Amino acid sequence: MVVVREARREDLEDVMRINRTELPENYPPFYFELHLEQFGKAFLVAEENGEILGYIMCRVEYGNLYTAPERVGKRGHVISIAVVSKARRRGIGTQLMLNAMERMKKYYGVDEYYLEVRVSNEPAIRLYKKLGYNVVKVLPNYYLDGEDAYLMARTA
Ligand code: ACO
Ligand code: ZN
Repeated sequence: MVVVREARREDLEDVMRINRTELPENYPPFYFELHLEQFGKAFLVAEENGEILGYIMCRVEYGNLYTAPERVGKRGHVISIAVVSKARRRGIGTQLMLNAMERMKKYYGVDEYYLEVRVSNEPAIRLYKKLGYNVVKVLPNYYLDGEDAYLMARTA
């Protein structure tokens, strides 16, 4: 049975390993530690029989909303989500997203959720569309290798 729970400091080695193996966008340890400290209610891991199978890391920002550009408010930013390849397509990514979204609203009072995703990343784009996210704009040359990103957002 997969349990989604708040990440703890001792989970960060596993989280960073999954981040390195599953995504080209990697960050130094302090970046994970900072988000765990500041937005720990929305830094989650999925665990099965003691094994970490995925994570989601978020932060909250204040500024103009992507879903309502004339308004300012709190944006819940999904910075990074990944599920190990062997455990994909079992609903774990969906569970991590829904849980983190609910928590960003409950604990931090966000007005919307948003994220960036590679335009070629069909699995992730489908997941986000299924959860009600829409493409707001294309961010040209967003990634280090030159690929564009979609900025996708949804009202909270
Ligand atoms: N092909 C097509 N659609 C897919 C695929 C796929 N390979 N994988 C997921 N989806 C869509 C489907 O609609 C799926 O629903 P269904 O299985 O009922 O058809 C829906 O997403 C939900 O799938 P889950 O099982 O909940 O997702 P999963 O646990 O496999 O995790 C994730 C999805 C996180 C995108 C995973 O594929 C992954 O870790 N990929 C590598 C890392 C990555 O790309 N992360 C996102 C980067 S962007 C960001 O971090 C903000
Ligand atoms: Zn981002």
